[in-house]
Amino acid sequence: AGAYRAHDFDVSRETEPGPEYVEIRSLGVRTRGIVFCQGIAGTTNPWFEDVQFKPAKGEILTLRIPGLTEQRVIHRGIWLAPLGDDLFQAGATYDWKVLDNRPTDAGREEILSQLQKILRLPMEVVGHHAAVRPIHRNQYPVLGRHPQQPRMACFNGLGSKGALHAPYFGRQLAEHLTGGAPIDRQVDLVLKTRWSSIAGHFAAGQNQPSSGASSGKRPRALPLTQRAQLAVSEVVGRGDIVIDATAGNGHDTQFLAELVGDDGQVHAFDIQEVALENTARRLAESGLANVRLWHHDHAELSDVLPSELTGRVAAIMFNLGYLPGGDKSVITRAESSGEGVFKAAALLKLGGIMTVLAYTGHDGGQSEADRIASILAAFPADEFEIKTVESQPGRSVGPRLFHVKRLKAR
Ligand SMILES: C[S@@+](CC[C@H](N)C(=O)[O-])C[C@H]1O[C@@H](n2cnc3c(N)ncnc32)[C@H](O)[C@@H]1O
Repeated sequence: AGAYRAHDFDVSRETEPGPEYVEIRSLGVRTRGIVFCQGIAGTTNPWFEDVQFKPAKGEILTLRIPGLTEQRVIHRGIWLAPLGDDLFQAGATYDWKVLDNRPTDAGREEILSQLQKILRLPMEVVGHHAAVRPIHRNQYPVLGRHPQQPRMACFNGLGSKGALHAPYFGRQLAEHLTGGAPIDRQVDLVLKTRWSSIAGHFAAGQNQPSSGASSGKRPRALPLTQRAQLAVSEVVGRGDIVIDATAGNGHDTQFLAELVGDDGQVHAFDIQEVALENTARRLAESGLANVRLWHHDHAELSDVLPSELTGRVAAIMFNLGYLPGGDKSVITRAESSGEGVFKAAALLKLGGIMTVLAYTGHDGGQSEADRIASILAAFPADEFEIKTVESQPGRSVGPRLFHVKRLKAR
């Protein structure tokens, strides 16, 4: 009894964190820790203002679908979660402009038409809700202690999709707070506050800066996809023009779009329509409108892009291979990748960077990586700085990440 109390208080003025306790005097509360689970109100919590949430209205439906026995949560762009007794919940929509709690006919139709693509059973709408939720740029929840005030923690950004993960991440945060267990990278508050912290975080080999639980352990190597992003984030700023030469499922495109902001421009290429659709969906869900998608081979990139981009592009990312989760026979090829990389380099501005991540585990991968290496080796050394990160240092096997930086204008 008394474990649950409902009260309002002003987080910015009334929360007093100290080394042993956090106090909220107006409520007569003194506690060893406080976890803020504030939903959209968390976007104005001054203690966690470094976590950049964007508000988005979402609508969800409760449906009766007689005869559907699915016990799992299905996620195909839209999600469908079983509630028991033929009842299911499905969602969600993303509206970044109208931020109210009113369910709309358009929202309901959007969810139903998405569902009808994956389900042929009749369904009845028995509930319809709308709310505004905070969304972090990589769409995952955000959890962890405040880096300077370890008695305060945040658990937010769940949205409707994230709420499906709430039991998993709730347990993870509880184990972190009570025993120093690690937090997954995608949701770690510390990694999400600033890009620059990524470099420091991994260089220091810390996963638990506040508890120090893992200090002294060997740092885990950063995956090459993230190393490429890190190198790009060191060079690219708001308003820049950048290119994703292999849009795929849109992770890098989204990353670039966030980096350059509304005043910047992203051009993303892919030869597969499904990849461009996946990318477009990811961008729409994140409210990003600064990307132009090109259904073209990247070997043609300098032919189709406006000529005035030559010498003005701050970053170009190639992530070669096949579309994860897609048709593995549609794959980047040594010849077109080589041509694309060669032509793209001419677009880079002074100080601009191109990253090329080449995988070698599939047919043709090794010769593609070798071809990129030999094309780059022929670049004039006074014009481009080339660095290679090998997954197995000293051996030209396994994935390789090439960094190409323009040192001198033509
Ligand atoms: C490894 S995936 C890219 C992953 C992506 N960067 C991401 O963040 O999700 C490689 C993509 O390259 C595309 N691709 C293959 N050949 C291509 C070409 N010649 N030009 C442009 N894209 C190509 C494939 O369709 C696939 O979607």
